[in-house]
Amino acid sequence: MRNRSVLVTRRIPEEGIEVLKTCCRTVDVYEGKRAIPRRTLLARIKGKDGLLCLLTDRIDGTVMDASPKLKVISNFAVGYDNIDVDAALQRGIAVTNTPGVLTEATAELTWALLFSVARRVVECDKYTRSGKFLGWDPLGFVGADIHGRTLGIVGAGRIGTAVGLKAAGFQMKVLYYDSLANGELEERVSAKKVKLKTLLKESDFVSVHLPLSEQTSRLFSVEEFDLMKPTAIFINTSRGKVVDEKALVRALKSKSISGAGLDVYEQEPEIESELLKLRNVVLCPHVGSATTDTRKKMAVMACRNLVAALSGERPANLVSPVESKRGKLLQATSRR
Ligand code: DGY
Repeated sequence: MRNRSVLVTRRIPEEGIEVLKTCCRTVDVYEGKRAIPRRTLLARIKGKDGLLCLLTDRIDGTVMDASPKLKVISNFAVGYDNIDVDAALQRGIAVTNTPGVLTEATAELTWALLFSVARRVVECDKYTRSGKFLGWDPLGFVGADIHGRTLGIVGAGRIGTAVGLKAAGFQMKVLYYDSLANGELEERVSAKKVKLKTLLKESDFVSVHLPLSEQTSRLFSVEEFDLMKPTAIFINTSRGKVVDEKALVRALKSKSISGAGLDVYEQEPEIESELLKLRNVVLCPHVGSATTDTRKKMAVMACRNLVAALSGERPANLVSPVESKRGKLLQATSRR
């Protein structure tokens, strides 16, 4: 085990690196300030037994084949749409992720965006700093109520559930759309499982918590935004590609919806230029899990997953069943 060699594609909290160092001879950390360039990734993965990568790294068969020794790909994220899991499966490479530890942080950012858009916090901040505040104004910066309104959760997995449960504090009605019934949401906040169309038509706030897949790619397009209320606010802290960004811009410009709060983008880190010009939009740079404690927990979890797989054990957070190179059948973990 101690002769193992791993590549970490970006600096992560030291707590994680310490886990790797206890077990690996070489811990090669890419120190660049942006995502590791593809060429560098392909060069530095050579001879590595394990890869700890980020959602910004595209990990396909070419990357996997660059190191015939590769046994595990540990993603520093809960979403793993950046990894070709089938290609890993074919090669007997385990793929792991970091579910659970970032649920609350991401749910909190979702609410932060929802509040910021509804109560125009960013606009207010800019206005106040610019010295334009000349006194209380009965018509100044009026926004939308949150309490008593309807929250629509699209994707009621871990994060969607955490977002929905917090709605109780604001006496909101909660609707959700998911293939599975969510007993916790139904029992604790009387949430109602509905069809997507119903959710879009009836919600004042639509919050998306879907993993990216063939089925969810561009799920939100012209038709979906057209179904929403003109007063509706759209929040996305999941993956940018579940939204057709041009359709969103059109909906915002034509006022077919009222506002949006986004943490993720279709062509991240590129952002549809029209979005940048709109006042009724609050934009964050993919920081859903960005709290000090959460990022430490993600690092430790991702590194423990990696070490477990290299030791021939079943990693706690395996995303797909795989016959490991050591011959053990490793089982999948649950949904996001
Ligand atoms: C994830 O984990 O998938 C988030 O998008 C980043 O924390």
